[in-house]
Amino acid sequence: DFIRKRLVIGNWKMHGTSVQNAALLSSLGDYAGSAELAVCVPFPYLAQASQSLEGSAISWGAQDVSAHAQGAYTGEVSAAMLADFACRWVLVGHSERRAYHGETDALVADKTQAAIGAGLTPVVCIGETLAEREAGRLQEVMLRQLDQVLALGGDALSRIVLAYEPVWAIGTGQSATPELAQEAHAFIRAQLERAGQPQVRVLYGGSVNAANAASLFEMPDIDGALVGGASLQAQEFLRIAAS
Ligand code: G3P
Repeated sequence: DFIRKRLVIGNWKMHGTSVQNAALLSSLGDYAGSAELAVCVPFPYLAQASQSLEGSAISWGAQDVSAHAQGAYTGEVSAAMLADFACRWVLVGHSERRAYHGETDALVADKTQAAIGAGLTPVVCIGETLAEREAGRLQEVMLRQLDQVLALGGDALSRIVLAYEPVWAIGTGQSATPELAQEAHAFIRAQLERAGQPQVRVLYGGSVNAANAASLFEMPDIDGALVGGASLQAQEFLRIAAS
């Protein structure tokens, strides 16, 4: 039997300054809870995060990665570069990248592969828009988003984490109810089981805070959270981890 260890990851998005980060990182530094805890910071602050968190119980990562290994790709950051900064994690296919940067399912799968190749754990994000949900297309959208990632095969899949982030719940203060989230997570779990990988962790993301985290974490197929706004406040983020 396997245990899906609880995992909480903060996604800072495009927030922070060196000065603000120093305060936030140092308040997180003595975390000693039982859940795995991590922060995904903007690229320029990876060095700061690694210096501040080294030796702590908190790991760090980035919010995107290039699908290419190296070369003439101006502005891109490779998985090997992230590994060079001792990143453990990288977000892949966040809905903001899909929506504002044209990331396709094929590119998301390529980035997932690149991350795994460098020894990182990709956190592959999927989730439907409100219009898709209202049109009854939730499962179809999730299947489409999962298809090329699942096709990477068992060896790759055993090294990933999935995050279910319904777009309508991101940054809106309107989290999915635990029941709605569980329904989506159970569907995702079923796909993972079909792929022979039931142990893959599936995080929920979308307006998670200290007040709603515990009820989400009670759900059998929710293995943790991907936290945006609330991860910018140390005490709130630590309270989520303690849930
Ligand atoms: O990746 C986490 C994110 O999209 C959720 O953001 O601010 O709703 O917690 P937020």
